[in-house]
Amino acid sequence: MKKESFFIKGLAGKRKLSGEIVVNGAKNACLPVMASSLLFEGGISISNVPKIEDVSRMSELLENLGAKIDSSEDQMNISFSKEISGDLDEEISKRMRASIFLIGPLLSRVGAVSFPHPGGCVIGERPIDLFLFGFEKMGASVEEKNGKYFLKAGRGGLKGAEIFFPFQSVGATETLMMAAVLAKGKTILKNVALEPEVVSLGKFLSSCGAKIKGLGTTTLEIEGGGLLKSNKREHKIIPDRIEAGCFLILGALSATDLLIKNCEPNHLEALIALLGSSGVNIEIGENWIRVKNDILSKSFSGFNIKTHEYPGFPTDLQAPITVFLTQANGSSVVFETLFDSRLNYTADLIKMGADITLWDAHRAMVKGPTPLKGRELDGPDIRAGLAFVIAAIVGRGNSTINNIYYIDRGYEKIEERLRKIKVNIERIGS
Ligand code: EPU
Repeated sequence: MKKESFFIKGLAGKRKLSGEIVVNGAKNACLPVMASSLLFEGGISISNVPKIEDVSRMSELLENLGAKIDSSEDQMNISFSKEISGDLDEEISKRMRASIFLIGPLLSRVGAVSFPHPGGCVIGERPIDLFLFGFEKMGASVEEKNGKYFLKAGRGGLKGAEIFFPFQSVGATETLMMAAVLAKGKTILKNVALEPEVVSLGKFLSSCGAKIKGLGTTTLEIEGGGLLKSNKREHKIIPDRIEAGCFLILGALSATDLLIKNCEPNHLEALIALLGSSGVNIEIGENWIRVKNDILSKSFSGFNIKTHEYPGFPTDLQAPITVFLTQANGSSVVFETLFDSRLNYTADLIKMGADITLWDAHRAMVKGPTPLKGRELDGPDIRAGLAFVIAAIVGRGNSTINNIYYIDRGYEKIEERLRKIKVNIERIGS
C-alpha cells in the first residue's frame, strides 16, 4: 500500500469554488456487475468503469479465478475460459467486503467455493449470515473451518428456493439474485434491497437473457436457466450517487456556482430534499445538478437525519452530511441505523472544532455553525475519508489527510477533479 496523503489549503468557510465536476461510474454498481461475468458464456463488456482501487482488487480476484480481463480508458471486457477455480484469494477477500458478491455466481457456476470472512470491518461488524442462510435454502452445504468457509451446491447444482430476508441487504440481494440465474427452477426473494445498484444489475442480467420479475419492488422472482449471453452489447455502469452527493454537499458549503455533471438526480432524492429545505439553492436537470450560492455566507438550517435503505437517506452519505451540519444553524441529530461503528470519525471533526456529542454508537447531536480548523487526519474508510476532504476544504488553514488509499478505493483521482473546481489540494508522499 502506498503511503500517500492529501494536502489541502482550507477556505476558512468562504465560498470560492466554481465550475463543472463530472461524476464517474458507481463503484457499488460496477463491482457486482463484474462479479456477474461468471454467469456468462462469451464474457461481458462494460463502460463507465471507475478507475479505483476496489475495481482493481475485484479484477485481481476474478483473474485468480481464471478470468481474462482487458481494459482501456473506462471500458472493460471480462471473460472466462472453461477452467474456473472456486477458491477466492484470501488476502484480497479479507480486505474487500464486495468479495462476498462473487460467491453467488461462483457457487452456481462451479458448484463448490471456499473463501475467508470478507473484509470491511472498519465501519462495524459485517456478518454474512443472510448469504449463508440463502445458499443453504438453495441446497448448498456450509462448513466453517479456521475462519474459512466451504460451500458446496447439492447434486445437480443450486436449486430454486423461496427466501425471505429478515432485513434488506444490498449484497445478499445481489449475490442471491445472481445465484438464482443459474439455479434449477424458480427462486423467490422477498424483502430485497431496492438500491439503484441492485436494480441496475438486475436490468443488465435481464437484458442478457435472465428471467427476473419484480425489479424495483421488494419481491423478485427468478426463473433459473443456462449461461447468459451479452451478444457483445456494452453495459454502461450507472453514475455514482454517493460521489454526486458528496459534490453537492461540497458545493452547498463552498461554491458560488457548481455544476455536477453525468449524474442521476433521481437517485439522490433524500439528500436533495433535505438540502433544499435547509436553504440550499439547487437546480436539477435530467443528468445534472447545479448548486448556486451567494458569495456572502448564507446560513442554512440544520435537520435530523436517519440513515435508511433506499430510497431513504444513504448511510454512505452520513459522514459528509455531518460535515454539512457542523456548518448549519441549530441542533441536528444524526442517527446511523445500518452500521455499528460509522460515527467514529466524528472524534476528528470535534478536534477540528465541531460541536458534536456522541449519544451512543448510533446517534450524535451536531450543533452549528462552528468554524473548522485544518489539522492532520487519518482517513478511516472510503466515505469518512471524503468527508474529511470536505471538512478540510471548509476549514481554516492547512490539513493533511493520511491513509488516502481508502479514498482511492472509492473515488477516481479525486484531487484532479477537485482542482478543476478550484480546490487547493495536492497528493503528497510516495
Ligand atoms: N447484514 C447482516 N448480515 C448479512 C448481510 C448484511 O447482518 O449477511 C447487515 C449489515 O451488517 C448492515 C445491513 O445488513 O448492518 C445492511 O448491509 P448491506 O448488506 O446492505 O450492505 P453491503 O451489501 O455489505 C453495500 C455497499 C455499502 C453500503 C451498504 C448499504 C457495496 C459494495 N457496498 O454494502 O457501501 O454502505 O450496501 O447501502 O455495494 C461503501 O461503498 O463505502 C460501502 C460501505
